[in-house]
Amino acid sequence: MDYRCFITVVLAFAIAEVVANNANANNENKTAAAQTNGTETELPSLCSVCNCEDDNVDCANKNLTDHFKDAQWPNKTMKVASFKGNLLVHLKPFPQIEIRKLILQKNEITKIDHWAFKQIINLTELDLSHNQLTSENLQPQVFEGKFSMVAYEPLEELVILNLAHNMLHSLHQDVFEHMSSLKVLNLSWNLFTKIDSRTSIAITSLQNLEELDLSYCGLKTLPDGQFHSFRYLKKLELSGNRLTSPPSVLEEATALEALYLDENPIQIIGSSHPHQFPAMPKLKLLSLCCMPYLTTVGPQAFSGLTSLESLTIENCPKLETIDDYALASLKNDSEGPVWPPLKKLDLSDNALRYLPQLFVARWDWLEELDLMNNKWSCDCNNQYLISRLLPKYGLKLMGERMNKLTCALPPEHAGKNLTSLSNRKLRCLDLNGAKPEKDATILIGVLIGIMLAIPVCLTIFIFWRRGFFFCGSQNPASFSRAFYKRTMNDEEYY
Ligand SMILES: *[C@@H]1O[C@H](CO)[C@@H](O)[C@H](O)[C@H]1NC(C)=O
Ligand SMILES: *[C@@H]1O[C@H](CO)[C@@H](O)[C@H](O)[C@H]1NC(C)=O
Ligand SMILES: *[C@@H]1O[C@H](CO)[C@@H](O)[C@H](O)[C@H]1NC(C)=O
Ligand SMILES: *[C@@H]1O[C@H](CO)[C@@H](O)[C@H](O)[C@H]1NC(C)=O
Ligand SMILES: *[C@@H]1O[C@H](CO)[C@@H](O)[C@H](O)[C@H]1NC(C)=O
Ligand SMILES: *[C@@H]1O[C@H](CO)[C@@H](O)[C@H](O)[C@H]1NC(C)=O
Ligand SMILES: *[C@@H]1O[C@H](CO)[C@@H](O)[C@H](O)[C@H]1NC(C)=O
Ligand SMILES: *[C@@H]1O[C@H](CO)[C@@H](O)[C@H](O)[C@H]1NC(C)=O
Repeated sequence: MDYRCFITVVLAFAIAEVVANNANANNENKTAAAQTNGTETELPSLCSVCNCEDDNVDCANKNLTDHFKDAQWPNKTMKVASFKGNLLVHLKPFPQIEIRKLILQKNEITKIDHWAFKQIINLTELDLSHNQLTSENLQPQVFEGKFSMVAYEPLEELVILNLAHNMLHSLHQDVFEHMSSLKVLNLSWNLFTKIDSRTSIAITSLQNLEELDLSYCGLKTLPDGQFHSFRYLKKLELSGNRLTSPPSVLEEATALEALYLDENPIQIIGSSHPHQFPAMPKLKLLSLCCMPYLTTVGPQAFSGLTSLESLTIENCPKLETIDDYALASLKNDSEGPVWPPLKKLDLSDNALRYLPQLFVARWDWLEELDLMNNKWSCDCNNQYLISRLLPKYGLKLMGERMNKLTCALPPEHAGKNLTSLSNRKLRCLDLNGAKPEKDATILIGVLIGIMLAIPVCLTIFIFWRRGFFFCGSQNPASFSRAFYKRTMNDEEYY
C-alpha cells in the first residue's frame, strides 16, 4: 500500500473519531476547524466550553462576552440552546442549525443585528427577557426570516417570544410583521406606562396570538380596539399595572378564558359604569389577588362571566363584603338568576365577614375552596357557612385547614373555631354589632341620666330667670339682643 494512501486512511479515522466525540458531547477539550482567509485556524468547539447533552446545549453562566462563530457550533438538532446569564451585548446572526428554543435571557443585550435569527431552522421559541433592549434598537428587520411565497419573510415557526424585563417604552409598529405564527408574547416588566398607537398597531398585528402578558408595564388604561382583532386570545395578564377600574375594552376579547388583574388599584367592582366588569362569556379563570384598595364587590359584579370556573379574590385587606349576588346574572327574568359553574373559589386573606349561601349556586359542584384568614363573624348571617357548608363539604374542599378557620366577631365567639360552633343556633347581631345585654345596660343608663338631668336643668333655668348668672344691669333680654347683633355683623362679611 502506498504510504500516502495509508495517511489518508488514518486521517479519515481521526476525523471520524472527532465527529463521534462531538456527538457524544463529553466535556473534554475539543477543537473545531474554522475556515478563515482560506487557511485553517482552530477555535474551541462550543461543546468544549458548554455542556452538550442529548439535544440540549447549556452555555448558561459562562461569562461569555462574544458569540460563537458558525464553525464552533455542532451541526445537529438542538431542542434547547441556552445562553442564559452571560455578558452578551451584541447579537450577530446565528448559523444554519436547527434550534427549537433559543434562550438569551439575563444578558446585557442592547443590539441585535438585522436577520439575526433568519438562518436558524425551526426556531419556535425565543427568549430575550432580562436584557437591555430599547425601542430604538428593536427594529422589524431584526426578526426577518427567509423568503416565502405566502408571508413577508416570516420566522415561520416562531410561536413564543419573550421580551419581558427590557427597556421598551414603545414598539415599532411593524416590529412583529415577520411573526405571523406567534401565539405567545411576553412584554411584562417593560417601561410602557401607556400603549401608544404604534405599540397598539404592533400588538394588534399578531392576529393568531393566544397569550399576552402585559403585566407590570405601568398601564393606566388600555386603548380602545386593542383586543378587537384577537380571535384566539385565551390568556391575558394585566397584573401589577395602574388600572383603577375594570377595563371595559376587554369585552372585545371574545375568546378570553383566563384573566389576571392582580395588584391593580381597583377600588370598586359593581354593576354600573365605570365599575362594571366587562362581560366575557368564555372566561373560565379570573384572578384578583393582592388589590390593596379593593373595598367593594357589588351585586352582579361578575354577572357577565357566565362560564367562570375558577375565581380568586385573595389578599385584599380592605375587602369586607362581597355581595350575595356578585356572581349571579339576572338577564333572564323569567327564570330567575343564573350562576356560573364555579369549581374553584379562593377568598383567603381578605377582611370578609360573611359568606352567603347564594354566592355560589351549587356548593356541591365546588372542587376547591379557601376561606383562610378572614374576619368571619359568627352570627346568624353566617349560619349557613358554619352549620351547613363546613360540616357538609368543609373536609372535602379544604381538608384539615377547615379547623383553622376562626371567628373574629362577635366578642363572645372571637377566636373560636368555626367548626366548634356548627351545632349552635347563632344569635343575630344588632346594627352596631354589640350584645343586646349590653344595649339594655346602656338604655337603663341613658334613662337614669335623663331623669337626673331634668331637675338639674329646671333649677338652672329658674336661677337664670332670676338673673343669677349675669352681673350688673344685664338680663336675659339684653343678652339675646347682643347675640342677635353679633350675627348681623357677621353676615355683613358675606
Ligand atoms: C482545556 O481546557 C482547560 C480549561 O478548561 C484549559 O486550561 C486547557 O488549556 C485546555 N486544553 C486544551 C488542549 O485546549
Ligand atoms: C485574514 O487575512 C488578512 C490578510 O490577508 C489578515 O490581516 C487577517 O488577520 C486574517 N484573519 C484571520 C482571522 O486570520
Ligand atoms: C464569572 O465572573 C464572576 C465575576 O467575575 C466570577 O465570580 C465567576 O466565577 C465567573 N464564572 C465563570 C463560570 O467563569
Ligand atoms: C448543517 O447541516 C445541514 C444539513 O444537515 C446543512 O444544510 C447546513 O448547512 C449545516 N450547517 C452548517 C452551519 O454547517
Ligand atoms: C421542523 O420540525 C418539524 C417537527 O417539529 C419537522 O417535521 C421538520 O422536518 C423540521 N424542519 C426542518 C427544516 O428540519
Ligand atoms: C413573562 O415573563 C416573566 C419574566 O420572565 C415571567 O415571570 C412570566 O411568567 C412570563 N409570562 C408568561 C405568560 O409566560
Ligand atoms: C334565556 O332563556 C332562554 C330560554 O329560556 C335561553 O334560550 C337563553 O339562552 C337564556 N339566556 C341567557 C342569557 O341565559
Ligand atoms: C380549633 O381547632 C384546632 C385544630 O383542630 C384545635 O387545636 C384548637 O384547640 C381548636 N380551638 C378551639 C377554640 O376550639
